[in-house]
Amino acid sequence: MTDKQSQATWGGRFSEGPDALMLRLGESVSFDHQLALYDIKGSRAHAAMLTHVGILTEAERDAIHAGLDELATEIEAGDFEWDTALEDVHMNLEQALTQRVPAAAKLHTARSRNDQVATDMRLWFKDHCEALYDALTNAMRELLALAERTQSVIIPGYTHLQRAQPVPMAHHFLAYVEMLERDRNRLAMVHEQANICPLGSGAIAGSTLPIDRAFVARELGFTDLEGEPRLTENSMDAVSDRDAFLDFAGACNTIGLHLSRLAEDCILWSSAEFGFVKLPDAFTTGSSLMPQKKNPDAFELIRGKAARLNGNHQTLITLIKGLPLTYNRDLQEDKPPVFDSAEQSLLILDVLAACLPGIEPDIARCAAAVTDPMLLATDVVDYLVQKGVAFREAHHAVGELVALAEKEACPLNELPPKKISKIHEALEADWTQVFDLDRALAAREATGMPGPKTVAEQIKDWAERL
Ligand code: ARG
Repeated sequence: MTDKQSQATWGGRFSEGPDALMLRLGESVSFDHQLALYDIKGSRAHAAMLTHVGILTEAERDAIHAGLDELATEIEAGDFEWDTALEDVHMNLEQALTQRVPAAAKLHTARSRNDQVATDMRLWFKDHCEALYDALTNAMRELLALAERTQSVIIPGYTHLQRAQPVPMAHHFLAYVEMLERDRNRLAMVHEQANICPLGSGAIAGSTLPIDRAFVARELGFTDLEGEPRLTENSMDAVSDRDAFLDFAGACNTIGLHLSRLAEDCILWSSAEFGFVKLPDAFTTGSSLMPQKKNPDAFELIRGKAARLNGNHQTLITLIKGLPLTYNRDLQEDKPPVFDSAEQSLLILDVLAACLPGIEPDIARCAAAVTDPMLLATDVVDYLVQKGVAFREAHHAVGELVALAEKEACPLNELPPKKISKIHEALEADWTQVFDLDRALAAREATGMPGPKTVAEQIKDWAERL
């Protein structure tokens, strides 16, 4: 169907059908067919509302509902044939329904595809925010399990990728639990924002017919905690607002960034140079040439997908910037980026959750890495401060100690006492106690710190919250 009659929904004023190239350019059903079940849900509610206000008879509504149910069953079974000549999911469904149910010719009363697609997408966002929220929760639980296993594994923490201070490996993984919690909150916000019904905004200026917007909103579950309907308050904004798209893609972008950083940590840690962890065989690959290789492909792909999630967000920003109100056809391009972001974010969250149980810390390599006494240079400063030395003076003195240790190629904690006391008289014989790792960590038990009690407390708290 490529002639005039294929455009039964708007062909009235045209003398010829669209060019084949126009159809190729204009079709969106190849991707927006994913909205079919939301579109059917919206149509069911719209038909019910039209009956409620006396525009459709009950018999007409029932026939439309039965036809929509039939279509839904066919679509779910994969038996429905989508036709690109009918442009989009909305027109495909309307034509198929009208062929079966004559009353469906009345279904589009007081509705435009502009408020229709806005409604479909809000329903889609609500579902996909929930799915992503659950996938995040699942990944957080696995991170927590890993943190539980690595509470007593002490590693050097890094800044500038230079050894900084010792931390339990668990503290490192718990940092990602915090990030994913913020991701969950972002998705909850998108869900909240999507939960407002735009149906009834029409093409741009509503309708002259006596529709009941609150009725439709209630039918579709666009309600607040008290069950009160939530309606968009400006028809022009409602049909052109794409904030939920931006925020959803932005939330997915941030999920990608978080997972990419974690993936990078795992890639570095599994290298021979670090050797802090072993990665699971099932999520690594070998080399076709080098028999010794075990490559962290799953983690590299998570890092790579983050680029794609960023691209989708950027696409939407560029798409929307500078568009005059209200609906413009450019907006049809809003769907592939969010569909892709949802799919890829869910995938990498699932992959991460599956990888984490297989991560094994290399206890010996971690223990060797934290024998470096330089990791506690800051604690020596604190030791001096506790003896009444001003921080700047203490910092300078320990800097001199570090320089001396480097010059003499001597571990910091083994510098001869005579030379030490010459650098600062407050450095007394008991200063070597500073280099006891357990003591160093046990001194860090305030909120947010990596002390063993605090970390164990954190793990307990999260276990209750997740
Ligand atoms: N397929 C269209 C889209 O996704 C539906 C809205 C069409 N509206 C219009 N005025 N042509 O944007």
